Amino acid sequence: MTEPRAPKRLFIETYGCQMNVYDSERMRDVLAPLGYAVAEKPDDADLVILNTCHIREKATEKVYSEIGRLRAHKERRAAEGKGMTITIAGCVAQAEGEEIMRRAPAVDFVVGPQAYHKLPELIARAARQAGERLETDFTAQEKFDVLPARAPDGVTAFLSVQEGCDKFCTFCVVPYTRGAEFSRPFADVLAEARSLADKGVREITLLGQNVNAYHGGASFAALLNELAAIDGIARIRYMTSHPIEMTDELIGLHGAEPKLMPYLHLPIQSGSDRILKAMNRKHDGAFYRDIVTRVRAARPDLALSTDIIVGFPGETEKEFEATMQLVGDVTFAAAFSFKYSARPGTPAAGMAGQVSEDEKSDRLRRLQAVLFAQQTAFNAGQVGRTLPVLVTGDGRRPGQKHGRSPYLQSVHFHDAQAQDGDIVDVRITGSSQNSLTGEVQALAPA
Ligand code: SAH
Ligand code: SF4
Ligand code: F3S
Repeated sequence: MTEPRAPKRLFIETYGCQMNVYDSERMRDVLAPLGYAVAEKPDDADLVILNTCHIREKATEKVYSEIGRLRAHKERRAAEGKGMTITIAGCVAQAEGEEIMRRAPAVDFVVGPQAYHKLPELIARAARQAGERLETDFTAQEKFDVLPARAPDGVTAFLSVQEGCDKFCTFCVVPYTRGAEFSRPFADVLAEARSLADKGVREITLLGQNVNAYHGGASFAALLNELAAIDGIARIRYMTSHPIEMTDELIGLHGAEPKLMPYLHLPIQSGSDRILKAMNRKHDGAFYRDIVTRVRAARPDLALSTDIIVGFPGETEKEFEATMQLVGDVTFAAAFSFKYSARPGTPAAGMAGQVSEDEKSDRLRRLQAVLFAQQTAFNAGQVGRTLPVLVTGDGRRPGQKHGRSPYLQSVHFHDAQAQDGDIVDVRITGSSQNSLTGEVQALAPA
């Protein structure tokens, strides 16, 4: 069949974590050779992809309500003699693919996180009105082998180095939706990083569900070292790291490698040792505190962020207070906190002592009050300092720019000369819970 020449429009809606953000970008790259250009809205797209998240119940529910909305667009377009192909990708696709096909006939394809490189094939099959409409095989490396070159659209980029998870925390669906831990070969990661640098990327964030469990022929710290040797790359970050994979080598690198940004996302989940054990996190509170002490010794200005779950089954008020205590002791620059959500098929969903919704809401409110205050205080602490800011784009007004501090804060400032990708010294003059404002001092050498 010959491809029609008119540009086709693609809309991708991304839910969930950075891994999905990376995957959405790669789906766009895979579809570009077929003539798909990105559309701003789903209403008039020929192909709509929902890249879904299964981590909490709310995230999953969103998918079905969004399919309902898309069905209306699809029907309207059909009445105009135009088509709309609806594809469900991501972790809900992996976990509930068959059910989606059954419950939502408007959906044309379901494609799991390890199978999206097969999208062109699925589309070709649909044109012939033949064949399978569900692709959820785990073929982790195959995907990376056939994906086209990256086409980054900014000076910061995600780079997926590790996927899947073998840790099986009792609350979590990721080991089921993303499969077993898998690391991309060292050389492939370096090649992708070099090509990003050639295309103007200055800051790379390495991604993985357990990114520091990377073992693609060398340790994670060795990988970071090699990446730091790439000329154009000025800044390196990574997420998400598991506390038990914080090796001495990696902790040491935070003190030794200036390109490694002073920011670490290190989920704790709970401050109670009994709950950590029930969660199967494989470490206790003391272990976590010790790592924090050691990374801060290596890099004293390190900013920490974390993930916390409240209301895990059986969590008592006293155990929740242990979490509050830990947060008070460690102090975080940022944090993601969640009410425990029972996920089908995970061990915790069947545990006794499920905490009531009201209790979970109350604990989350109390926890977030402390976390938000810590974040606001951390930002306020930058006022008066001069920070090297990576310019990432233009602001709304002429001459206005936005950028990123070493501590992952958004910074707004005025500078008519600064170009995206420059690193400029900005004296911080104001702060809020979510961002900083400042004045440019001088162009720093790149
Ligand atoms: N791989 C990462 C986390 C991935 S999921 C890690 O090990 O830390 C991101 C966060 O979602 C988790 O850290 C956890 O805080 C939260 N989360 C995962 N499952 C959840 C559930 N069932 N209910 C509530 N929050 C959950
Ligand atoms: Fe989920 Fe735990 Fe694996 Fe993180 S380490 S992805 S929380 S099972
Ligand atoms: Fe969600 Fe899947 Fe990421 S469940 S958090 S999109 S790995």
